[in-house]
Amino acid sequence: MSSRKVFTQSFILVSLTSLEVVCGAPSIYLDYVRSNLDPKISVAAQNCYKVAKGAFTGEISPAMIKDSGVDWVILGHSERRHIFGEGDQLIGQKVAHALESGLGVIACIGEKLEEREAGITEEVVFAQTKVIAGNWMVWAYEPVWAIGTGKTATPEQAQEVHEKLRAWLRENVSEGNAESVRIIYGGSVTGANCKELAAKVDVDGFLVGGASLKSEFVDIINANA
Ligand SMILES: *[C@@H]1O[C@H](CO)[C@@H](O)[C@H](O)[C@H]1NC(C)=O
Repeated sequence: MSSRKVFTQSFILVSLTSLEVVCGAPSIYLDYVRSNLDPKISVAAQNCYKVAKGAFTGEISPAMIKDSGVDWVILGHSERRHIFGEGDQLIGQKVAHALESGLGVIACIGEKLEEREAGITEEVVFAQTKVIAGNWMVWAYEPVWAIGTGKTATPEQAQEVHEKLRAWLRENVSEGNAESVRIIYGGSVTGANCKELAAKVDVDGFLVGGASLKSEFVDIINANA
């Protein structure tokens, strides 16, 4: 499979007690990727629908994803939100159904540039969190202005939002959830900036876009080891 054929290929790194690497692939290649990738590496779909079955031509369900031997799904990616118009409520329903179906969920949240500049980052991120929270999953904070733009949040900016998100979960969900939840950072993560970002106390891993297709992905993995 040439990378030319792939729309976006997000690889996710989640570090907790052990390092986990998850490869996100377009749905049509999930079966191929799962069959060919080292079993140590998990695979994720990049979207799915909110119900198990029905008349929803073109959609895929968590059950179909599981049929391909795939254990994870990425939901609420900024491109789903902003190009395909998925709102917080729909994303919340998708997350709930995916979790019920037994998939691991990487739920993406993040503010746009104009929202950051207007000083409403927290408001936006908390609203996105609220419809999903209460569940056990991985949170991916991706400031929209840092996706595919070459702009990265500074490690301090990333840490600030991750810390607030954890505080939100502590107060609004539970202490246990806040402590064990994994909050990963996404948005122009590269081999050059990954170490500094990974050193931040509330950064538990990365959601990597373009850099996951290059050899520097190894450095990004190792930054979390
Ligand atoms: C708990 O949730 C409410 C509503 O989203 C929010 O205003 C508040 O700041 C949250 N608590 C923390 C500590 O973030």
